[in-house]
Amino acid sequence: MPIRGNLTFPGDKSISHRALMIGALTDGPCKITNLSTGLDVQSTRQCLEDCGITIETFPEYTVVHGGEFKNPTYDLDCNNSGTTVRLLSGLLTGRGIRANLVGDISLSNRPMNRIVNPLRSMGADIKANIGKLPLELYPNQLQGIQYSMPIPSAQVKSAIIFAALGASSPTIIHEPVPSRDHTERMLQSLGASIHNENGSISINPSKNKLPSFDLNVPGDPSTAAFFATAAAIVPDSEIILKDISRNLTRIGFYKVLEMMGGKIEYMDEKIENGESSGTVIIRKTELHGVTIDGEMIPSLIDEIPLIAILATQAEGTTIIKDAGDLRFKESDRIHAIVTNLNRMGAIITEHENGFAITGRTKLKGCNIQTFGDHRIAMAFTIAGLISDGEVTVDDSNCVNISFPEFHTKLREVVQ
Ligand code: S3P
Repeated sequence: MPIRGNLTFPGDKSISHRALMIGALTDGPCKITNLSTGLDVQSTRQCLEDCGITIETFPEYTVVHGGEFKNPTYDLDCNNSGTTVRLLSGLLTGRGIRANLVGDISLSNRPMNRIVNPLRSMGADIKANIGKLPLELYPNQLQGIQYSMPIPSAQVKSAIIFAALGASSPTIIHEPVPSRDHTERMLQSLGASIHNENGSISINPSKNKLPSFDLNVPGDPSTAAFFATAAAIVPDSEIILKDISRNLTRIGFYKVLEMMGGKIEYMDEKIENGESSGTVIIRKTELHGVTIDGEMIPSLIDEIPLIAILATQAEGTTIIKDAGDLRFKESDRIHAIVTNLNRMGAIITEHENGFAITGRTKLKGCNIQTFGDHRIAMAFTIAGLISDGEVTVDDSNCVNISFPEFHTKLREVVQ
């Protein structure tokens, strides 16, 4: 059955986390519309509230009342959210807060030294259990550093930027491969002293509060990508994805779909608070294999499970390289993709830092092992639209981490 319709999406998850955290650095009130509805962003909200920040929810928007951060009385529970724990660690060490950060089993197995090391070299007093959660933060005055990012990571970059705002001297971050830049854009739009020149990001600390702001969060391009994939692989499909982020550091998936032969039309582009957004129309076309590597990876890192599904329906071989960090996401996503596509009968070879898929293959229905990972659950539900036989998913509730509306929206567009 074709995929047809006109969809809008809850706000981008990355921008939503940052809007709440940066709102907390103002005197408030900050009115945020179209905040992400996912559980990850609720984790950030709860942690900020536990640190004394008041946040109110109204039917049409959320209001963050900035204020003084307090030491939380409880452990801050980041649940499944890597963005919450990593960004908040930078934010709280920069403000001299005493806090313990904890998370669920998945988060407790993810690497934290990538933030602990640079924050410690700024003077942060952090106790970490073999580079994993829980993290114990103790107050200490930070100083600026010069830091060359060993891996491209917007979470690490943003943690350092937040810490740098509260340091006693300037910080410079060298970012060899650009990663998503929402933190820089939002802070710049509020007049903070932060500049990016050819991948060197300089941050001058400021004791002053940031000015309050209103923000309409653009639709999440990573969640819209599930529907773009559906329209690209199901015969006779056409889908309109309205008001989604068109930030250049986030649209790698859409560029790859075009490289594969996908038909995409862009319209209604606008820029608000330094972030661009617009409407994207995707139609079903014949696809062919491509190689994706190097600098392209960060701009599509969360969409690689979907590129794998597209690759099974593309003529020839698609190769993903330089994506080893996928092994440290909510699950080992390379393993999760390989396991499930093998079950569905795809031709896939696993590599340490990626995989190769040769299409086209008629996929078979099976029970998908999500490993509790929301993006695996949603990507393979989309694969089920073209499978011979039913696809079932072992844990469909995990979609709530980023996109609770996923199943309802999907039902709306399957004609
Ligand atoms: C995110 C950055 C990326 C991405 C994650 C969200 C962010 O992680 O995979 O879903 O909001 O900064 P890394 O910074 O670890 O690459």
